[in-house]
Amino acid sequence: MSYSNRIGSLDRAIATWLETREAGALRDKADRLTETYRHGRSSAHIDLAAYLTARMPATYAAVGRVLSQIAVIAESFAPQSILDVGAGPGTASWAALAQWPEIQNITMIEADARFVALAEELAAASALPALAAAQVIKAKLGEGDAKANLVIAAYVFAELEERAAGEAALKLWAQAEHMLVIIEPGTPRGFARIRNARAALLAAGAHLIGPCTHANTCPMSGKDWCHFTQRLARSRDHMHAKAASVPYEDEPFSWIAVARQKYDLPQARIVAPPITTKIGTTLKLCSAAGLHIQQIASRDKPAYKQAKKLEWGDAFSL
Ligand SMILES: C[S@@+](CC[C@H](N)C(=O)[O-])C[C@H]1O[C@@H](n2cnc3c(N)ncnc32)[C@H](O)[C@@H]1O
Repeated sequence: MSYSNRIGSLDRAIATWLETREAGALRDKADRLTETYRHGRSSAHIDLAAYLTARMPATYAAVGRVLSQIAVIAESFAPQSILDVGAGPGTASWAALAQWPEIQNITMIEADARFVALAEELAAASALPALAAAQVIKAKLGEGDAKANLVIAAYVFAELEERAAGEAALKLWAQAEHMLVIIEPGTPRGFARIRNARAALLAAGAHLIGPCTHANTCPMSGKDWCHFTQRLARSRDHMHAKAASVPYEDEPFSWIAVARQKYDLPQARIVAPPITTKIGTTLKLCSAAGLHIQQIASRDKPAYKQAKKLEWGDAFSL
């Protein structure tokens, strides 16, 4: 074997050694990140690389799904400005710009200096002028008097006390010229914050956009909590970081969106995975009538064909 071949093998061996150690290190950090968020702890000591690899793709996908559902209901809404509170790396701003390219002014509010620097660096690298010109402010939720057409708080209420969610929602509502969107992990803890925010916002006269199709008392009770999931492909780095065996993940999320104007709401929303068999499709729905089950028999061919395409989280006409 020639010297260069031997060196070539050595290069590969070194690359493999490094890749294994790096992947292992990232996996440890991603594991610690998962533990941090599972226990509702703050983002203060999490690893930024692990967040970008193991969390941001999922939070981006969940925010994107919510915004696309809002855009169907609030068809005429074309925000020019956005306030992204608890911005982290700027996830919600990037997702909002993908949904509404007409956004011109982006302000991010972020408490942690490390995330401020990261959000600034990522935004500055964007080819989109609105992102490249984004303002990232180191501040806490509710501080300052910035306002925007659209205010988004994604995965930040988790870092507040459950009982603080209503008050925090009202602070954000005061900053929203038209719409406020709050997204949380789709866990009982996450939903508890969304439920508190919903009650406070409705009491303040806000109009619902979703996911609720009515302003009655939320019918979710006991072990039930309102949440949905968004499937996303895992990157190679994410597969390594999570030691994953499947090339996708399902991100559970809970959300609430309200506006200063009334929109026509769907009659019902599918609040659990539809179950389809040869006999028919079973949908669990939430509507003004509360939680109920709708069966669509396979012998009703056109309705069954339609029902088979429905997904958890979709709107439904009764
Ligand atoms: C889980 S990360 C979510 C980041 C981003 N919104 C996303 O969806 O990917 C929560 C972020 O909120 C920030 N944060 C926590 N409490 C905050 C507060 N009271 N005011 C502003 N930012 C806060 C944390 O520093 C962290 O960057």
